[in-house]
Amino acid sequence: MSLPATAVVAPTPGSLDSYHVTREPYYRAIGDEVALYEAAYSVRMPIMLKGPTGCGKTRFVEYMAWKLGKPLITVACNEDMTASDLVGRFLLDASGTRWQDGPLALASRYGAICYLDEVVEARQDTTVVIHPLTDARRILPLEKKGEIIEAHPDFQVVISYNPGYQSLMKDLKQSTKQRFGALDFNYPEHEVEAEIIAHESGVSMDVAKNLVHIAERARNLKGHGLDEGISTRMLIYAGRLITQGVAPLAACRVALVRPITDDPDMRDALDAAVTTYF
Ligand SMILES: Nc1ncnc2c1ncn2[C@@H]1O[C@H](COP(=O)(O)OP(=O)(O)OP(=O)(O)O)[C@@H](O)[C@H]1O
Ligand SMILES: [Mg+2]
Repeated sequence: MSLPATAVVAPTPGSLDSYHVTREPYYRAIGDEVALYEAAYSVRMPIMLKGPTGCGKTRFVEYMAWKLGKPLITVACNEDMTASDLVGRFLLDASGTRWQDGPLALASRYGAICYLDEVVEARQDTTVVIHPLTDARRILPLEKKGEIIEAHPDFQVVISYNPGYQSLMKDLKQSTKQRFGALDFNYPEHEVEAEIIAHESGVSMDVAKNLVHIAERARNLKGHGLDEGISTRMLIYAGRLITQGVAPLAACRVALVRPITDDPDMRDALDAAVTTYF
């Protein structure tokens, strides 16, 4: 069947195929975050995931994209990032200039979840490009191209934010914050965290629980000599080394103690915690 001459052929969203999460990511729900996210997505509310490093924010958004069957485009934000890096730019090639959509344009044009990781790292003049996409307008003006993208119905913005790290100079503007709903993340309670570590690293539950005990000691030292406690991610690394046959003491030194502090007294205190449990 041929199309009538006047048919408008929508651009093929083929460009998003590679952004689908094809296999179910392992995600252990901690509270009601899955249901809350689903409700937020159903009204396309932009969402902010708040929590310390290595506590499951990225894993959660991957899981939600898979569960909702939507493509996921992730952008690691940094302070050198410009608005063009998000929105797109003209490129010069053999046949002349051609427009290339940036990740935000791609996601809003074809309908993906756009995850801006560590968004506070971006300069505030870069962050404001998400403003028209995260209010009732849901548009993205491509000024250089002279086009306004009306966001695809499936499009949603998700940002992550580590509340501990912000200085006055580096924080989101209120006008950015107030466009988002927020979900708080933290390290899960003991048993659940051990379950995650056992699953991700292959260690037994007993070993995983000991790793969590050590982390809890370190987390209590946050603000008393440590900037940040030991994350779930670090515990998984330690577990993986143990699974590889590394002795638990050495594994904990390499994966837990050495990376987070250079202070000799603090290292001694943490090493002592390790020897209590291994
Ligand atoms: N609830 C959870 N269910 C399953 N895995 C988890 C969970 N929480 C943490 N993890 C594990 O911890 C690892 C670190 O989590 P993730 O990378 O999502 O942290 P993050 O919060 O995005 O950290 P950062 O702020 O540094 O980007 C994951 O790769 C995953 O293995
Ligand atoms: Mg992350």
